Amino acid sequence: MIAIGSDHAGYNLKTEIIEQLKAKNMVILDVGCNGESCDYPDIAAEVAKNVAEGKCEKGILICGTGVGMSIAANKVNGIRAALCGDYFTAKYTRMHNDSNILCMGARTIGPGTAAEIVDVFLDTEFEGGRHQRRIDKIKDIENSNK
Ligand code: RB5
Repeated sequence: MIAIGSDHAGYNLKTEIIEQLKAKNMVILDVGCNGESCDYPDIAAEVAKNVAEGKCEKGILICGTGVGMSIAANKVNGIRAALCGDYFTAKYTRMHNDSNILCMGARTIGPGTAAEIVDVFLDTEFEGGRHQRRIDKIKDIENSNK
């Protein structure tokens, strides 16, 4: 299951991405918003919680720039949220960072780019190997903050 959420700025793009994922028979958990003005940290926390607890395998967050969503989501232990505005970043953040939440800015990229970013993010596997050691060091930082 893929958790997805947006604030008001990302709502239209979120609606398009949901259609894209449903066309591929993917199961979606849409945590909101429904177009009304809202605060992106509330939405980011809901998606991040579902991913961190293993209820959803990955998450997608959309706001105006994608920055607020990524800052907020990365506060949750176990979350590696990546703000992506291009195909290459989306591919390599999966391969090297094992990112589990994709963040996008609805006001910074067009719908075609967003659609390609979503596809490659969801379809690309983590490479492991030396990259796992680096992920483990990120976990060490999280644990040192507890
Ligand atoms: C909302 O106006 C805007 O601040 C928000 O969508 C996002 O861009 C924050 O990072």
